[in-house]
Amino acid sequence: MCGIVGYVGRQKAATIMLEGLKRLEYRGYDSAGLAVLQDGGVTVVKSVGRVANLAKLSSGRRLSGVAGISHTRWATHGGVTDANAHPHISSDGQIVLVHNGVIENYVAIKKFLLTKGYAFASETDTEVLANLMAYHLAKEPAAAPAANGSAEAPARFLEAVRKTLLHVEGTYGIAVISPAHPGELVAARKGSPLILGVGEQEHLIASDVSALVSRTQNVVYLKDGELVHVTSAGFTLSTLDLADVSPVIDKVTWSVDDAELGDHPHYMLKEIFEQPQALENAMRGRFSADASTANFGGLNLTPADFRTIDRFVFTSCGTGWHACLVAEHLIERYARIPVEVDYASEFRYRNAPLDRDALFFVISQSGETIDTLAALREAKRKGYKCMAICNVVGSTIAREADGGIYQHAGPEIGVASTKAFTSQLLISAMFALYVARMRDMSFADGMEYVAGLKAVPELARRALEQAPRIKEIATRYAKFNDFLFLGRLDLFPIALEGALKLKEISYIHAEGYPAAEMKHGPIALISEQCPSVFFVPKGELFNKVVSSMQEIKARKGLIIAIAPESLELPEGLADEVIPIPDCHEAAAPILATIPVQLLSYYIALTRGCDVDKPRNLAKSVTVE
Ligand code: AGP
Repeated sequence: MCGIVGYVGRQKAATIMLEGLKRLEYRGYDSAGLAVLQDGGVTVVKSVGRVANLAKLSSGRRLSGVAGISHTRWATHGGVTDANAHPHISSDGQIVLVHNGVIENYVAIKKFLLTKGYAFASETDTEVLANLMAYHLAKEPAAAPAANGSAEAPARFLEAVRKTLLHVEGTYGIAVISPAHPGELVAARKGSPLILGVGEQEHLIASDVSALVSRTQNVVYLKDGELVHVTSAGFTLSTLDLADVSPVIDKVTWSVDDAELGDHPHYMLKEIFEQPQALENAMRGRFSADASTANFGGLNLTPADFRTIDRFVFTSCGTGWHACLVAEHLIERYARIPVEVDYASEFRYRNAPLDRDALFFVISQSGETIDTLAALREAKRKGYKCMAICNVVGSTIAREADGGIYQHAGPEIGVASTKAFTSQLLISAMFALYVARMRDMSFADGMEYVAGLKAVPELARRALEQAPRIKEIATRYAKFNDFLFLGRLDLFPIALEGALKLKEISYIHAEGYPAAEMKHGPIALISEQCPSVFFVPKGELFNKVVSSMQEIKARKGLIIAIAPESLELPEGLADEVIPIPDCHEAAAPILATIPVQLLSYYIALTRGCDVDKPRNLAKSVTVE
């Protein structure tokens, strides 16, 4: 939620920041703005609307400054207006600030600042930060101002930011500049991600590496409670209680091209088609030499540790939570170890009784989702080991977990998660195999399982070949305003995911349900105006699902069936059949997902929706 880019160097800051903001737009797109230090002052351009709009506004302005900050907003406090857009300037003009997060005690701070004569031009919680910093800056012992390079001036600016943050409750990633301190930028984080890019005679600050990777691959992931003071020549890292921090410079392993749209019309479609590659990446180097089990280098647990575990607890949000449900099914089925799945947003508050020897897992594409991070911290606070399945390397969740499994799916920019989800499903299937082989699964079954998973990328390629047919179905079904998605066992979470995908990008009301539960209520929704998408399984439940389909048909409901190609459905039962390749049972959820991703995409497209930037949403939810 909200994206920040800051720059200090020798190039025009506005140009570099606008490029970075475009890459961060998935984090919020209610308004955008930038500020550059120039001519002894500060120039601000901001407006409601997208980054493209900001770029247009900026092109008519002379923006030559070499230091600046910028922001793309997902509104929390205050409506979507120009006044509420960031950057915010203190009423004395001395502090300019962008913020990602929520200041919980802003009302009390605002009251205090009003008594001190500070004025407010917006309804945001952020503006109180700017004014409180200005208040502290004014109170700092008089120092020779603005002498760039002077030891005194930077300390004064940094000190004002630091003192402000000591009074703040809530979450923040901030970047701050001051016209009295040209060539400097101060950034800090607590609960919202912030990364420092270390370039050649330039430094950048961003909420995500995608915004700075075109300029440098050397990055420092800031930790909660850290502040960084940046100039073009260098940076110093410290904590809020003034302890120096030795920076660890990491290398980003992907390039800017990986996050480019290329010839694709949308990131979502690009990422759907990247799934075969993402699935291959998730498996690379992770099978044993005898091809009978999986290996995970980052779990930091021995097989003996695993023997003592009597329950897994999986938590996540949104799409990741659906992946947890599939993990539950696979681990319980193949390893016979009980699994509990919790919404991360609920886990922290419900004080659940936990088994003594439970092992925690969180699943998060971004590694920054605040609810998931809070669940991880709660589990650790209670003394449990917590593993993370994460896509973004170096993310907060990845760093705070005791161990984990990186997805290596590459950057996922589309707000609707696609390749990250199927990659989470594959990793869950591999993990189920890993623990199953430590328990009762035989060598032969393990080999068959591994062979089944290795085939998945190629089968995913074949599933994608249905895109033209799915597009044609989508064009005809886009007129409906209600959909049901129905599946059983490990395909029930895919029904939930199908419904979520359709909801978030096309704004169509959709519900995922266990197919057999349908007759206990949702069947009342069935009419010619409410189509049902059925996930048809192979095996013992095939006939049961066919019976559920008959019940829909008897009530004139339209049916789209997603079924393995070897299955024969009764003639005329489904109005549309989308075949998927036959596969190992553990991979069935992955292949069943691809058609619903495409269906949602093409329906949203037919309805004229902005697929990559659906209304009200942001990719990475860093507020509670
Ligand atoms: C997925 O399409 C959603 N946009 C959303 O549910 C997402 O999966 C959720 O916010 C969790 O994000 P994370 O995986 O980055 O933690």
